[in-house]
Amino acid sequence: MDLSAQLKHYTALTEEQLTLQIPAQTELYPYLQNAMRYSLLQGGKRIRPALVFLANAFCGANDEKALAPAAAIEMIHTYSLIHDDLPPMDNDELRRGKPTCHIEFGEANAILAGDALLTLAFEVLSRPSPLYTPDAQLRMIQTLAVAAGHRGMVAGQAFDLAHEDQPLTLDQLEAMHRHKTGALISASLTLGAQAANCQNQQLLQDLSRFGRIIGLAFQVKDDLLDIEGDTLTLGKPSGSDLARNKPTYPALLGIQGAKDKLLTLQEQAHKCLHDYGANSSALLALADYIVERNH
Ligand code: IPE
Ligand code: IPE
Ligand code: MG
Ligand code: MG
Ligand code: MG
Repeated sequence: MDLSAQLKHYTALTEEQLTLQIPAQTELYPYLQNAMRYSLLQGGKRIRPALVFLANAFCGANDEKALAPAAAIEMIHTYSLIHDDLPPMDNDELRRGKPTCHIEFGEANAILAGDALLTLAFEVLSRPSPLYTPDAQLRMIQTLAVAAGHRGMVAGQAFDLAHEDQPLTLDQLEAMHRHKTGALISASLTLGAQAANCQNQQLLQDLSRFGRIIGLAFQVKDDLLDIEGDTLTLGKPSGSDLARNKPTYPALLGIQGAKDKLLTLQEQAHKCLHDYGANSSALLALADYIVERNH
C-alpha cells in the first residue's frame, strides 16, 4: 500500500471509532454533542492517528490495538484547535474548511465542546479492555496527559500567546514549537508503541527521537503554509500568523531559512530510522509528507 492509500485506510478506521464514541443526540444536552461532532468528524488530515497506527504496526501489533489511542489523540488535537481558534487566542473563523466551532455554536459551547473532547479522550483510553495490560493502559494515559498539559501542548500555547509582537530567540522559538505541536505528534508515536506493548528500549528511543524531529518539522511547515498556502486549500485562513504578528520560523529566519531548517529536519528524521530498513519505510513516507504537504 502506498502512503495515500494507507492514510485513507487509517482515516476510515479512526473516523469509525470517533463516530462510535459520540453517538448522536443521546445525552442531556445534544447541542453540545453536535458541537463536538461538528469539529471532530468532518475534515482534518488525521496525521496523529496515522502515526499511532504506523508506530503500532512498526512494533508488530495489529491495527485493533491502535484504535483507542488513535481516537484519543485526535480528540485532544481537535479540542486544541477549537480553543486555538477562539477570539482570545488566534481569533480565526475558518477551520477544516468550515466556520470555526465558536462561530457555529457560540463561544461558551465551543469552550465546553473542547473540554468535553479533552475528558472523552481519557475516558476512551482508560476504558477496561482485554486488548491491553493495565500497565500498558496506564502508560498510555500518562503519555497523553503529559503531552497535552502544562508541560506539553498547553504550555506551548500559553507561551505562543504571551509572545505575539515579540521577537524570540531561535532557542525559544524551537522550544515553543516542540511544546505546542511537537508534544502531541511525538506522543502519537509513543502511544502506538505502548499500545503494542513494545519493550524494546532502543526502538522506543529511536521512535521518540524521530517523533521529536517530525513534530518540530510539522510546525515549521505549518508556519510556512500560513504564508505560502491559500485559504481554500488550507481550510483555514492563510496569513493568520502575519495578522497577529506571531513568532514563527519564517518570521525569524526568512522563508528560505525556514525551508532549509525543514530539509535538515527531514534528513535527521531519515537518519533516525535508517537501521530499520524497509520496516521504517511507511513512517519515513509520512515524515516526507509532513515536509512536502500543501495543506
Ligand atoms: C494544525 O494541525 C495545528 C497545528 C498543530 C499546526 P493539523 O494541520 O494536523 O490540522 P488538521 O487536523 O489537519 O485539521
Ligand atoms: C496551534 O498552532 C497548535 C495547537 C496546539 C492547536 P497554530 O495556531 O499555528 O495552528 P493553526 O495554524 O491555527 O492550525
Ligand atoms: Mg495558535
Ligand atoms: Mg491558530
Ligand atoms: Mg499555524
